[in-house]
Amino acid sequence: MTARLVLITLSFLMVCCHAPQSINKSNKGLLGNQCMVVSAHELASEAGKQILSQGGNAFDAAVTVHFVLAVVYPQAGNIGGGGFAIFRESNGTSGSLDFREKAPLQATKNMYLNDDGNVIPGKSLMGHLAVGVPGSVDGLFTLHKKYGSLPWSQLLQPAVDLAENGHTINESLAKELNRFHDDFLEVNKRQTAYTKDGVWKKGDTLINTNLAKTLTAIQAQGRDGFYMGWVAQKLINESTNGHGLITMTDLNLYKSKWRKPLTGFYKKHQIITMAPPSAGGVTLLQMLQGSEQFDFQKSGHNTAATIHQMIEIERRAYADRATYLGDPDFVKIPLDSLLSRAYNSQKFSSINTSQATPSSSIKKGQVEVIESMETTHFSILDTQGNAVAITTTLNSYFGSKVIVEGAGFFLNNEMDDFSAQSGVPNQFGLISTEVNSIQPEKRMLSSMTPTIVEKDGQVKMIIGTPGGSTIITSVYQTILNIIDHNMTMQEAVNAPKFHSQWLPDKVYFEKEKFAKSLLDSLTKLGHQTQLRAAIGKLECILVYDDGTIEGAADVTRNESAAAGF
Ligand code: DON
Repeated sequence: MTARLVLITLSFLMVCCHAPQSINKSNKGLLGNQCMVVSAHELASEAGKQILSQGGNAFDAAVTVHFVLAVVYPQAGNIGGGGFAIFRESNGTSGSLDFREKAPLQATKNMYLNDDGNVIPGKSLMGHLAVGVPGSVDGLFTLHKKYGSLPWSQLLQPAVDLAENGHTINESLAKELNRFHDDFLEVNKRQTAYTKDGVWKKGDTLINTNLAKTLTAIQAQGRDGFYMGWVAQKLINESTNGHGLITMTDLNLYKSKWRKPLTGFYKKHQIITMAPPSAGGVTLLQMLQGSEQFDFQKSGHNTAATIHQMIEIERRAYADRATYLGDPDFVKIPLDSLLSRAYNSQKFSSINTSQATPSSSIKKGQVEVIESMETTHFSILDTQGNAVAITTTLNSYFGSKVIVEGAGFFLNNEMDDFSAQSGVPNQFGLISTEVNSIQPEKRMLSSMTPTIVEKDGQVKMIIGTPGGSTIITSVYQTILNIIDHNMTMQEAVNAPKFHSQWLPDKVYFEKEKFAKSLLDSLTKLGHQTQLRAAIGKLECILVYDDGTIEGAADVTRNESAAAGF
């Protein structure tokens, strides 16, 4: 296609399909000038703010927020799950900690297949066999040991109090507890703190004394309060009685890992993001490199032309996710190639600006191997300028639905993030291959993308979201909303999102947020569009050039909150 024809096509799309979005600068989130916490629950954000106002740093506040979320947001907040932390100290040094779950020692490659070699639906999703060895407590303890400033015990007190004395549940927790009531009974075969006669209602009090005891053990003994002693024994009893695979050796062996964050640039902004075993950072950086070939500022926010180009970028990056990414401690990942400018300019040069490329015709890129449906995110910036972004998860809502008897916490179902069989999609429709097959002690591939963006040597954004496979595209679109479309963080968070992940060959759009004429234009370009519920729950921070801090909670998609001053 000639350059002139491309230009005509783009101009046509811009004129016909631009659903103009007025960028209202007054639409900002919570403003402050010293510190900010944004999380999926107001009690967690408030508790984090209290720690900051008591002189704690962002790492201290992260510990408190994480453990409070485990009490007040049990859908995803956890001690029985895992996650990733990206951070940047006020002196400019950045780092990351991987506290992703691991496959138990007794796990086997074909553990979710029947005798005919087919995946048994649900086996990696619900019940004891779905559980990976939890990493959260080790992760938060390790992070605090190196970077925290207030005593560990003080940081856990708000969570202990909330579990012991109870908290008033909000509408979304009431709804989700009712939705999963039967699953809780089916898996646990007993009443627990999370079930009751009759339905849960907003305003009910949820008390979990077993969880309070567990948190008290962690408060007193740190990591060992979870991985050793009576809590560990309860976890092992639960696993053994439910025919799960986790043993005391698994718990003893679990260690979170410091990993070098991935970094890259987009229009003079430095992006600091998560390395494998999260696919998030690689895929995000690839998509940002692909975006440099286009002028989205000119083609406009969420116009057909822009969305078309972004879908084509997303589709191509996700093909590499499926093909090359897994746990770097087990498989060789051609990171240098995947992130090289030469590779990506070649990869994205096949984008046709006036026609969708069928996913079936996109093969994995030719790389050179160089030797050598619930999660939660929170963002914190402290008064000294330390920034922490943590995305943590049980995987599905309430994970495997297994509640450790006598200890009161949910166990994850993270084993579903492995490829149970090459090419067979997981719960997010993601496929992968041998690189992400199950092996003892291996970490399952993730999409979690906690990210910090720097400009001129200063923290500019702290970003992240849940959403399974849509995490990476939501983070990508939010970054472009700020850099290319000059939005406030609240506008960037609120903005309608869409998602393509290569396979299935569909593009998902948040329902009721995109004009029909726009979707029709994309269909004409060859995209298969599909409407779906909310994409992402972004909890983000933006720092303006004058030092104003904006905390933007994704209040239109979830009952989250910013707290700061
Ligand atoms: O690690 C991952 O990519 C998934 N376990 C995340 C799950 C998730 O975000 C579900 N939330 N909506």
